[in-house]
Amino acid sequence: MFTLGIIISSDKGSKGERVDESGKVIQEMMKQQGYEIKKYIVLPDEKELLAAEMIYMTDELGVDLLLTSGGTGFSKRDITPEATLTVVERLTPGISEAIRYNSLKITPRAMLSRAISGIRKDTLIINLPGSPKAVRESLEYIIPHIGHGLEILRGSASECARK
Ligand code: MTE
Repeated sequence: MFTLGIIISSDKGSKGERVDESGKVIQEMMKQQGYEIKKYIVLPDEKELLAAEMIYMTDELGVDLLLTSGGTGFSKRDITPEATLTVVERLTPGISEAIRYNSLKITPRAMLSRAISGIRKDTLIINLPGSPKAVRESLEYIIPHIGHGLEILRGSASECARK
């Protein structure tokens, strides 16, 4: 079983002005896959706050996977990818490319997501877009393949099976 941290980046959500539907979708889908949710938090779109929480969840809680949602677009306050860039040690562009590749088949507006992903210590961090619809569409596509990456990161799988 893998552990999971969830950060929702939303000014309105953090002030209680909007119900966080995206967080619900993430929790529901990931629980179904057997992930244990260690922490879920809604934060304002503030780079330092987001980065500090990412560091806490990776370094202190040691979650295997950290999913963020929101703050990846073009709005002046959208800052999640930049916060993520300050904490990751290695980028995992393939995951973000895969999300956009799949999402572009659903809506060309997927090109407007600036989401990134990467590895900090033993944790994989993935930015997801903000809407519940986009979260569901993104997770459906990547979930089946993420576990293998997490196993390699943990050292419990050493290489991809070649058949
Ligand atoms: N990806 C999927 N799969 N489905 C969507 O509806 N919406 C896009 C994009 N990615 C979308 C998507 C839109 S309209 C925007 S503006 C960007 O994600 C950024 O979203 P965010 O600012 O909420 O993070």
